[in-house]
Amino acid sequence: MKQELSFESIRNNKEIQTYLEFTDAAFAQMGYKEHGQSHALYSAEIAEQILKYLGYTKREQELAKIAAYLHDIGNIISKHEHDQSSAVMFLNFVDNRDFDEEVYAVTSAIGCHEDKDTDPVSPIAAALVLGDKTDVRHERLRTESKINLDKHSRVIAACQKVDVVVDREEKTIALRLKIDTSICSVMDYFEIFMARTNYCRRASRVLGCNFELYINKDKFL
Ligand SMILES: [Fe+2]
Ligand SMILES: [Fe+2]
Repeated sequence: MKQELSFESIRNNKEIQTYLEFTDAAFAQMGYKEHGQSHALYSAEIAEQILKYLGYTKREQELAKIAAYLHDIGNIISKHEHDQSSAVMFLNFVDNRDFDEEVYAVTSAIGCHEDKDTDPVSPIAAALVLGDKTDVRHERLRTESKINLDKHSRVIAACQKVDVVVDREEKTIALRLKIDTSICSVMDYFEIFMARTNYCRRASRVLGCNFELYINKDKFL
């Protein structure tokens, strides 16, 4: 009998928990920011909420949530091309006979989440990208010390507050950041995160919205 994909079953799956744990432990060792449960859950929540506020169906919201939760599990194999390995790992969870439109939607969304030079392939993929690429929360940094951080880590350390605000009427998706400019400058933010900011713009366009960026209440996009 065909098993329906559900966020709950993915979230409670022991193997997936283990993949996220191992990935995060490996990233910790390499000195990279958090890439485990917290990032997976944040991305999933944001992806779901964006589609909800824009009026997409419950099922589309759930598929985006599943895709966003799983998008980085391929890092357990290698950071290199982990978008592809994450998609293939997801397919391993699905019985071949159950391959259908929904499985395709999740697979293709996961598989394109690092293709920053092309538009995400669907609204589900676009929601995943926005969930993933807006996760600049300082909590993901692994050290309390703000001294001797590289530029990327300094920018993350400076992001004290992160909000994603969707306005269905105005057709905007806004990333509102509070940055501690004693840790990094606004210019540093753009230097480090230009590619991801542009990708958020592309993803918003796929959802029929403009992407806006506010830093400390000033509008930059
Ligand atoms: Fe990724
Ligand atoms: Fe990610």
